[in-house]
Amino acid sequence: MTTSLDSYRPDFSLTNRTCIITGGTGVLGTVMARSVAAAGANVVIVGRRAEACASVANSIEAAGGSALAAPADVLIREQLEEVRERTLERFGAIDALVNGAGGNVPAATLGPDDTFTALDADAMRDVMDLNFQGTFLPTQIFVPPMIERGTGSIVNISSMATVGAVTRVAGYSAAKAATENFTRWLAATLALQHGDGLRVNALAPGFFVAEQNRRLLLNEDGSLTERGTAIIANTPMRRFGTPDELLGALIWLLSDASRFVTGSVVTIDGGFASFTGV
Ligand SMILES: NC(=O)c1ccc[n+]([C@@H]2O[C@H](COP(=O)([O-])OP(=O)(O)OC[C@H]3O[C@@H](n4cnc5c(N)ncnc54)[C@H](OP(=O)(O)O)[C@@H]3O)[C@@H](O)[C@H]2O)c1
Repeated sequence: MTTSLDSYRPDFSLTNRTCIITGGTGVLGTVMARSVAAAGANVVIVGRRAEACASVANSIEAAGGSALAAPADVLIREQLEEVRERTLERFGAIDALVNGAGGNVPAATLGPDDTFTALDADAMRDVMDLNFQGTFLPTQIFVPPMIERGTGSIVNISSMATVGAVTRVAGYSAAKAATENFTRWLAATLALQHGDGLRVNALAPGFFVAEQNRRLLLNEDGSLTERGTAIIANTPMRRFGTPDELLGALIWLLSDASRFVTGSVVTIDGGFASFTGV
């Protein structure tokens, strides 16, 4: 007797869903946006640079996907409300949100010879704003249509800087730690108040070369900086990640394949977090 194996195949499809991606103009965000479109979703590209939003959206549409360029600053409520209205007008629903906007603020990083007392308090606030408020505010503005329909998946972006002390990087580490805690808090709160269709998780990438960290990791000739060398020495796989290596976990978290997963932080780091360096 043969039985169908269909019910054992996880559903990774995002067909007919609409996903907003903040930071969709960045190194990781652009790749994530293309992947979400490839999984079948309508994608809304959010970043401050209007031309970059249009360029990512156009490239997705040219490849047969469905995308909307919706420039906005994640720290400005009115601009995010406009994105929500434009999204609902064009696609009729919001099913998913990737809070990808973020990054380090150089002045919130200790200089090589500085002591803690030199840390700039305004820069510390800026980096908290970008990485924490810049996740909190879009979530608060884009979640109501998900609550209304009782379904939605939110993916935040954390970092290895939350795992332990990464020297010099004070503000960014604190901000990502706050984002991770908020991921767990919101996961519990949404499920308790609105049911099992609303989920919140996070990806915690290791080290990927992007605009906001390039100068920290690589010299102009492409060789490793001292810091880049230290990171590779503490990464058992002995390399940086490539953006496409985030996509399996991202599509899993956004899709029904992870429908009992909420409050999780998925580490994608070549072994960095589990290695003592010894
Ligand atoms: N690369 C890594 O190794 C790594 C590791 C762990 C976590 N992450 C996280 O991954 C995410 C993506 O970073 P990335 O490495 O791809 O860096 P990136 O290339 O510098 O991208 C940063 C993105 O954030 C957007 N952004 C910055 N400020 C914004 C604001 N106020 N409003 C709206 N959008 C804003 C930028 O868009 P506009 O310039 O158009 O505004 C850009 O799309 C960040 O949260 C970062 O912290 C990265």
